Amino acid sequence: MILKGKKGLIVGVANAKSIAYGIAEACHAQGAQMAFTYLNDALKKRVEPIAEEFGSKFVYELDVNNQAHLDGLAGQIKKDLGEIDFIVHAVAYAPKEALEGEFVNTTKEAFDIAMGTSVYSLLSLTRAVLPVLKEGGSVLTLTYLGGPKFVPHYNVMGVAKAALESSVRYLAHDLGAKNIRVNAISAGPIKTLAASGIGDFRMILRYNEVNSPLKRNVTTEDVGNSAMYLLSDLASGVTGEVHYVDCGYNIMGMGDVATDAEGNTILAWDAK
Ligand SMILES: NC(=O)c1ccc[n+]([C@@H]2O[C@H](COP(=O)([O-])OP(=O)(O)OC[C@H]3O[C@@H](n4cnc5c(N)ncnc54)[C@H](O)[C@@H]3O)[C@@H](O)[C@H]2O)c1
Repeated sequence: MILKGKKGLIVGVANAKSIAYGIAEACHAQGAQMAFTYLNDALKKRVEPIAEEFGSKFVYELDVNNQAHLDGLAGQIKKDLGEIDFIVHAVAYAPKEALEGEFVNTTKEAFDIAMGTSVYSLLSLTRAVLPVLKEGGSVLTLTYLGGPKFVPHYNVMGVAKAALESSVRYLAHDLGAKNIRVNAISAGPIKTLAASGIGDFRMILRYNEVNSPLKRNVTTEDVGNSAMYLLSDLASGVTGEVHYVDCGYNIMGMGDVATDAEGNTILAWDAK
């Protein structure tokens, strides 16, 4: 049991399809004890049974944009778990209209909402929990290839992920002095609630499946297992990293699939 005796906070479970669920599942299997948060009352009734499934009755309301919620967090954790070893930040949001059409038309309001909820929240959450985070602890966030590279429809969320990945490096430096590690997993596309806001998501899934070296899409179990490693002492020398869990899609300089002159899908290597 790699996480036996370890305790953590999981932020970002909406349902059993959430990446945070996959992470909690892997951590639970390795003996971790966890507390969970839910965004609002509608999600509370989904998160409570999930927490129970993982042997936890500690479920807190947390909207990362609500300072009162953040202020109360460390006290709740201290009361229920004492000091903890890890934080999972699996939170992102952008208004749907900002994930359609051209990036150039992104409004200031949508830009600010995406950055605040998806990037600043990593800082504010980490700062809020820091008083109860042990030395040797680990913070993990979730990012996507749409940050460092162009991906259709990802728009402002791509800019947010680029800023999130940079934030991981700056936080890793700050918290390194306390022997706390900060890393990101860049997950391949997975059909979740958040992903449903992204245009042509089925096409993105299919494209990644046919063009990744492993010829499949990742699952929440794939991401969960890698996350468990980064949260554990097995990764004690790893910080500031963006670790790709995407069936290798990010290494491809050229895809396997192309279209012929008639628009039919063919293997690129068969194109004449
Ligand atoms: N699904 C993918 O294809 C994919 C790929 C790479 C990275 N990611 C990232 O993984 C993370 C988790 O997303 P997911 O795909 O599991 O979807 P999800 O919808 O299951 O999870 C997103 C979570 O963010 C929470 N959230 C949104 N606004 C919030 C706020 N103001 N305060 C607190 N919580 C808030 C939601 O309640 C939800 O639990 C996100 O950062 C996402 O960008 C997803």
